[in-house]
Amino acid sequence: MKKLACLLLFVFCFVNVFQVQIAVSAEKKVKKSVYPGPIVPSQIYKLSKEAASTDKCSKCIVIYGDTRTNHEPHKKIVKLISDRKPETVFHTGDMVDNGAKKEEWDIFEKIVAGLRKNSEFFPVHGNHEWVAPNYFKVFNFANWITFYSLDRHNIHFTVIDSEVPFWQGSWQYKWIKRDLKQASLSDKTKFMVVLLHRPLYSSGKHGAYDSPVVSRELAPLFEKYGVDIVFSGHDHSYERLYKNGIFYIVTGGGGAPLYDMAKEHESSQIYHKSHHYLTLSVLKNRLFFEVFDDADKRIDSFKVKK
Ligand SMILES: [Fe+2]
Repeated sequence: MKKLACLLLFVFCFVNVFQVQIAVSAEKKVKKSVYPGPIVPSQIYKLSKEAASTDKCSKCIVIYGDTRTNHEPHKKIVKLISDRKPETVFHTGDMVDNGAKKEEWDIFEKIVAGLRKNSEFFPVHGNHEWVAPNYFKVFNFANWITFYSLDRHNIHFTVIDSEVPFWQGSWQYKWIKRDLKQASLSDKTKFMVVLLHRPLYSSGKHGAYDSPVVSRELAPLFEKYGVDIVFSGHDHSYERLYKNGIFYIVTGGGGAPLYDMAKEHESSQIYHKSHHYLTLSVLKNRLFFEVFDDADKRIDSFKVKK
């Protein structure tokens, strides 16, 4: 037993030390080697009127997630996203049901192949991906990076891994703190966006179990460094919440079976049980968000202004 305990301790320490080494220069590695090849913004739309932008998306960034094994709804959502020709796509995690099964990744890759050809595609590590080699292979991750940050236009994106230690004292927590602090001090950063799989707040079924830990550890950091908006998945629904000056968006409707509201959160503003995706338009002094269901009907819109 003692030998087994020592072995497990060694593996845990090794993984953590390994992760901090890669996290120190995560941004550099993301740009240089994680997503190699040219970014192809196939078309940049211009908005004539912000409020009338139902079929246009300026410097378009799309966010969606939780696709797993419901392939037909996923295909439908991907087709709608592709039609908008986004520059960048973020997936909020749980791309497949079992990250260890290669055949599930083969189907996922087939569905998003066209999208990934024309748009850069950034994953958020979900609980269904597992720490599986397939995940790192599919996304060309160098050195098994699962948290990283990048800048697009005037937005700093911090992508957190809620499936490995993120709480105070962990290597990832220190990296998040340093990353947010640096971004908040940069003249190039106008908006700060965070993505992670498990929501800090949610009216869905995971809200009561997972969210209190995540929000207790991370919300003070987000509030301190001026994060504008936090995206997550995990609950299979769309929800907009607003708390202490930050929008919290749950976007887990990329195809996985949908959830009813479990218990309405006090900060909830809107909840939709539908497959959907979200577009982020980058305007001069504001970010404009629109959410569309699987019939491409707009179900929500809101803006973040500086
Ligand atoms: Fe999940």
